[in-house]
Amino acid sequence: MHRRSSPLLSLALATALAWLPAGAHAQTVAGKIKVGFMLPYTGTYAALGTAIENGFRLYVQEQGGKLGGKDVEYFKVDDESDPAKAPENASKLVKRDQVDVVVGTVHSGVQMGIVKVAKENNTLLIIPNAGVDEATGPLCGPNIFRSSFSNWQPGNAMGQVVASRDIKRVVTLTWKYAAGEQSVKGFKEAFEAKGGKVVKELSLPFPNVEFQAQITEIASLKPDAVFVFFAGGGAVKFVKDWAAAGLKDKIPLFASGFLTDGTLEAQGAAAQGLETTLHYADGLNNARDKAFRLAYAKAYKLQPDVYAVQGYDAAQLLAAGANAVKGDMTRKAEVYKAMEGARVDSPRGAFTLSKAHNPVQDFYLRKVDGRENKVSSVAVRALADPARGCRL
Ligand code: BEZ
Repeated sequence: MHRRSSPLLSLALATALAWLPAGAHAQTVAGKIKVGFMLPYTGTYAALGTAIENGFRLYVQEQGGKLGGKDVEYFKVDDESDPAKAPENASKLVKRDQVDVVVGTVHSGVQMGIVKVAKENNTLLIIPNAGVDEATGPLCGPNIFRSSFSNWQPGNAMGQVVASRDIKRVVTLTWKYAAGEQSVKGFKEAFEAKGGKVVKELSLPFPNVEFQAQITEIASLKPDAVFVFFAGGGAVKFVKDWAAAGLKDKIPLFASGFLTDGTLEAQGAAAQGLETTLHYADGLNNARDKAFRLAYAKAYKLQPDVYAVQGYDAAQLLAAGANAVKGDMTRKAEVYKAMEGARVDSPRGAFTLSKAHNPVQDFYLRKVDGRENKVSSVAVRALADPARGCRL
């Protein structure tokens, strides 16, 4: 049924709106919090983007579809994991859709473009995966938050684990872009500080999956162990190629946990026994994680992975900000302050943010067993990224 509004009421509304700051109209009239997902929905990281969105939406649904008392409205852009398109894609959400918050992304190179646009427009940004060290390092900012990790963190945790074993000479292999290079840097820093040596750093362009040349070179170098960074579809292919080359039982393979998270069904026997470090694992056995996993499986008929957790926690962080201002996202300084001080009750275990807005969190050592990355131990407790170059 349509009701015609009175001309007097319309005039009063128009006069009130004229006094609002530019850009506030859409939010105020709609009374909604506008969330812009900039995530990969195609390409090697497509499944990661979907898991992040699923996790985020699940938390919002658990709050009755509202944050800070306001309905949540979603906008979406497929970033295709393409850094060249990142500034234009981020501008679509910030300028065209006028979102209150950008939630994105997965790929470290794309993240650099989003950070630039978010800083230029003082738009709240929550990074639900990409580890690019700069975002919570030299490019940190009052409006830039992360619910995931810095690339340095899981690499550094694995460097500490490998250094504690009888392993001296390591070869590294990764895609040649920030995520891989910075993971290797974190690994090397911890491993070499305890007397190990990275004897060769190998790479191939993202998202190539023809690993044969590098695998052959590793076989001829005969290192004590190998450390790699791969994720998504590329991680599935690498783990299978490594086993097919007959190296699985010859050279110990270590990685940050992205190598085996959300990928085990496709990797099958080739992944069994692989050890990785990450801020999430199967079998954590805390009440929060159990409830989250049940709810996620019920909603999506899927088991959650680390990406789903990071999406869920991005929504929890946003809720901390939105609740503090009763959904009035124009009160930006108060939103940022509340988010900075949040203690996020995550399925991974509760965490707080560093001064640079990066999670200070436990890193687990995990071992693949069937379809699970089973927790073996806490590899490093409350590991904080050094946030080099951040002035906040
Ligand atoms: C990254 O590009 O930062 C990234 C992508 C996938 C998994 C982990 C990190």
